[in-house]
Amino acid sequence: MKKTLRLLPLITVLAALTMFSQGCKKEDKTTEAPAAKAALSATEIVLGAVFPMTGPIATYGQESVNGMKMALKKVGNVVGLPIRLIVEDNKGEPVESANAVKKLINVDNVHLIVGSVASSNTLAGAPIAQQARVPLMTPASTNETVTQTGNFISRTCFTDAFQGVVMAKFAYESLKKKKAIIIVDNSSDYSKGLAAVFKKKFVELGGTVIDGTFTYVQKDTDFRSLLRKVKREGPDVVWLPGYYTEVGLMLNQARQMGMNLPFLGGDGWDSPKLQELAGADGIKGNYISSHFSPDDEDPMVQGFVKEYVATYGQKPGAMAALGYDGVLVVADALKRAGTLTHKSISEAINSTKDFVGITGSITIDENRNARKAAVVLETTATGMKFKQKVMP
Ligand code: PHE
Repeated sequence: MKKTLRLLPLITVLAALTMFSQGCKKEDKTTEAPAAKAALSATEIVLGAVFPMTGPIATYGQESVNGMKMALKKVGNVVGLPIRLIVEDNKGEPVESANAVKKLINVDNVHLIVGSVASSNTLAGAPIAQQARVPLMTPASTNETVTQTGNFISRTCFTDAFQGVVMAKFAYESLKKKKAIIIVDNSSDYSKGLAAVFKKKFVELGGTVIDGTFTYVQKDTDFRSLLRKVKREGPDVVWLPGYYTEVGLMLNQARQMGMNLPFLGGDGWDSPKLQELAGADGIKGNYISSHFSPDDEDPMVQGFVKEYVATYGQKPGAMAALGYDGVLVVADALKRAGTLTHKSISEAINSTKDFVGITGSITIDENRNARKAAVVLETTATGMKFKQKVMP
């Protein structure tokens, strides 16, 4: 009896605490700007970055940061202040991305955030930035829903509604393919979105998409039973909107199984690692859409390629160019912002117009997406070969 009595107050306190914390949690969803209350530095601009520096999509992060550093060197001080870059590694994971955004806002007091790459990663971090009213600009996430998170979320790349249509048309009109199978990465919002866009357009054009479930998830390594299923159906083209690690392995296994039809993909294939994973046979005769071609003869592009090769000893991929342009757009916005508050920086980014970058002319529209050209590239044993440029 005595024991119970002594325990009672403790239980009451615990219950009260639980109720309190639940109350707080609920409130978090409705109140504005619970974070980002600290004053921003007036002696430097703090630029947060969330990128996959390790893990299965690490080349995206490595190339982005290379490009960003090159651009930071070029812009130097902005409005008289140095820019300090803080890179957080999200390992290609949504939970890590959300934590990285929280840390950059609450601990580092960033002026703004650039990132991430994989749409599912950006989608995990964007609501946190939006709620804290800190601008987050992704140079690379193409899934339609990313910028729908809110007015502090923008992008300097095109969206999958455009990219998917470009490739459906390329398959039907340029390659004259009629019977497609779509292989989907079920762990990726990007893959699911692009699968749907391609299907709609390819069917609208007169093509057939073979029914069935042809799926995998990230970190799978053996695609042979999936590929056997695909082979049995006899498509004349495969639409594979995935990321380079799984795509590379799949291409390798497909060719070994005697599947010589073209596989088509989106920007997620764009990695210096793709060829190594796919092998000399696997890489040949496939096509992707992307943001930039290092073969573009534009003198500005060639200048960028030359400097990148001199600095990093490797040709730049799409992510390097997107990271570079992302920083240039941010620097331009900071100059136009007037004051360095989160709100004015966000508004300045959102009103970017006709900014000429390596990846094309960037105008951010009313939905905070960029309207830009895409390129179609052929994957060959000697690198990506430019095929065509498609205007928005
Ligand atoms: N567009 C991809 C996504 O949203 C990311 C990506 C961009 C990958 C550019 C490679 C190059 O998930």
